Amino acid sequence: MNLYDRIPNNVNLSEDKKLQRALEKWLPNYLDWWREMGPEGFQDKDVWLRTAVDVGSEGWAHFDYVKMPDYRWGIFLEPPKPDAKIGFGDNYGRPAYQEVPGEFRNSLRRIIVTQGDTEPASVEQQRQLGKTCPSLYDLRNLFQVNVEEGRHLWAMVYLLHGYFGRDGRDEADALLERRSGNPDKPRILEAFNQPCDDWLNFFAFTMFTDRDGKYQLSALAESGFEPLARTCQFMLTEEAHHMFVGDTGLGRVVRRTAQLMREGDVRELGGIPLEIIQKYINFWFSYSLDLFGGEISSNSADFFAAGLKGRFQEQKQYTEHTAANEIFTMQVVEDNQLKPREVPMRNALNEVLRGEYVKDCEKGLARWNKILAEAGLTERLYLPNPRFHRHVGEYAGHTFDLHGNLITREEFEKRKSEWLPAMEDREYVRSLMHPVTEIGKIANWIAPPAAGIKGKPFDFEYVRLG
Ligand SMILES: [Fe+2]
Ligand SMILES: [Fe+2]
Repeated sequence: MNLYDRIPNNVNLSEDKKLQRALEKWLPNYLDWWREMGPEGFQDKDVWLRTAVDVGSEGWAHFDYVKMPDYRWGIFLEPPKPDAKIGFGDNYGRPAYQEVPGEFRNSLRRIIVTQGDTEPASVEQQRQLGKTCPSLYDLRNLFQVNVEEGRHLWAMVYLLHGYFGRDGRDEADALLERRSGNPDKPRILEAFNQPCDDWLNFFAFTMFTDRDGKYQLSALAESGFEPLARTCQFMLTEEAHHMFVGDTGLGRVVRRTAQLMREGDVRELGGIPLEIIQKYINFWFSYSLDLFGGEISSNSADFFAAGLKGRFQEQKQYTEHTAANEIFTMQVVEDNQLKPREVPMRNALNEVLRGEYVKDCEKGLARWNKILAEAGLTERLYLPNPRFHRHVGEYAGHTFDLHGNLITREEFEKRKSEWLPAMEDREYVRSLMHPVTEIGKIANWIAPPAAGIKGKPFDFEYVRLG
């Protein structure tokens, strides 16, 4: 472990001078990006953050006050497994790739760049949120997510610099040049160009969009390209906290709304009505589904065949690892009707991964609905049908209602404001967003968390603003 190097790492960076020099050259550019695009207005504040210092299942993180630009962004990979094998696809059982196989070089670089691009993008999307935090606890969680997305960018940049030579270095530079939502140089994936400018958006984003990250990383953690697998395995431990922030954040909004519903009119009482929460769920769930790619995909087949991207928990969940002779049946639109179509399994793997993701999201909905039930309310939240409001894949270009029934574009446009956040919904939510920064205090529209962070109470000074 080289914790006190300029770039903390467990990959013996000091023994690879060329790579070390390249990354040390990238570091100041990264810091410039962080100062320009990281959380606005809090760069000189002490924040009680966890920093990854090891990859062991115990004690991998260190908690202390740190100013964000001084955060120790490091490179940490799970330890290599002796004689690691390719776990699926046409080369199943052969030794894992330790270097990039030439014929898959472009695909692999594309996978890494696409994943890498999401990490700084989310920091950019969230950079104004600190100014309207509902509590110091939430402010700290926002910054924790932000610095770790920064570290995830480092993880991908390490692979680009370490394994892709010249074009890897160019891609690493480009990761600092694109900007979320900028029409001239947008981020690669659309969900990462959507504004995330209020805390309901933030919680929905970390619940649904970070959870896409979990499934992409899980599929890559199975990769036969071992450095990628080991990197993604460790990123998943950090990612779990991001989803916790989203899941419990939305749960706390639901809890507060349920309380206010029993007291009177939620709007008059300054809370967020359930209908608005539902619309935010519909928006972020549908955009996040797009991130899995087309339902029928030759890329997914190629990546799987090559042993680059596996299925969710490939080793744990499956006994047959070639998926060569299987068929998957899905609904597609033909002659303006939904019809079943049989697809070779390997071409349907995006859809299979999306299915795993939907199951996971449903568990979140069940937790929130339990809060409503316990409050004695009969209203429930739900996930829209996965065909609803899609911009990628088989269903893009068609319009569906929340139940997944085909409808005309005209009808969709007419009813859109019932289903997705309208301008006035966004404005209403924004009107509630006033910063609450007194120790132990919380905004009116959200309930406090059940517990603080790492044994600290809720009324701990998670961020020192003084
Ligand atoms: Fe991430
Ligand atoms: Fe994340």
